[in-house]
Amino acid sequence: MTQEQFEDGVAYSEDNFQNDNAPHLKVDKALIRERFDLNGKKVLDFGCGMGGMSVWYATNWDCQVYALDIDRHHIKIAEHLKEKHKVNNVVFSQRNILVDHLKEDEKFDYIFLNDVAEHIAYPILQEIFIQLEKGLAKNGKIFVTYPPWKSPYASHVTHAVKIPWCQYLPAKTLDNLIKKNNMPIVGEEESDLLQAYHGLNHLTHKKLIKVVEKANLKPVFRKSHCILNRLPGLGNTNINFFPFDFLVTKEFMLLESKNQSVGTNPANAMASQGK
Ligand SMILES: C[S@@+](CC[C@H](N)C(=O)[O-])C[C@H]1O[C@@H](n2cnc3c(N)ncnc32)[C@H](O)[C@@H]1O
Repeated sequence: MTQEQFEDGVAYSEDNFQNDNAPHLKVDKALIRERFDLNGKKVLDFGCGMGGMSVWYATNWDCQVYALDIDRHHIKIAEHLKEKHKVNNVVFSQRNILVDHLKEDEKFDYIFLNDVAEHIAYPILQEIFIQLEKGLAKNGKIFVTYPPWKSPYASHVTHAVKIPWCQYLPAKTLDNLIKKNNMPIVGEEESDLLQAYHGLNHLTHKKLIKVVEKANLKPVFRKSHCILNRLPGLGNTNINFFPFDFLVTKEFMLLESKNQSVGTNPANAMASQGK
């Protein structure tokens, strides 16, 4: 990682931490504030990247955050962010939980996967959810956010090629377009846009449900954030059916273990009230 990439990474993670109106996180942060009380909780930020959201959880609630990522470069930036802002209730770790499994005493009330699930190949994602389910404390929840594959920005390269829904272009055409506009990104395994694009698993709600069900998890809440939610009166409506599903920019899903009794925990109650 060059010094310039390191500094860009720090600026990016700092913005994710401090700016509640950052376009790609505005909806996520509002939903998390509305739905979760992390005070006194143990939180796992899985795939924490450069740590902006981990530090945001740690500074907005009185909670203990454990944040891990497989990428050494991301964790280096996250550590710097923690030191710079003197945040003591977050621990960052470079870790692959499929090699170094969660231990018996590593149990979490909330596990966040923010923009992570769409980057991991299905067989691996399946194994990860199996591990994460085992890492849930009693009444624990897993919150997954991702841009679904039909989203205008799902390719993660729209900002470079300037074409929404470009994932539907012929493969060769898109590859050439990305190569023409390619740029380095911080990352050990994926270090440019072309690699990042090819690392995507084309995630949809249906595919994710299949994966989590095999991991003994069940959904208790879903929110599809659609561009049409900006229209008056449609703010909280789930508009995720054809053809409007092409306008869904972000999916949010809350999961709990199938072993948990239904109806006895606050998140279920909130979900059933449509909150
Ligand atoms: C798009 S970034 C999101 C980072 C962060 N959650 C955020 O919201 O800024 C996806 C992250 O998932 C991480 N990741 C991918 N596969 C992983 C794995 N098997 N275990 C842990 N982290 C992983 C990547 O290294 C990357 O940092």
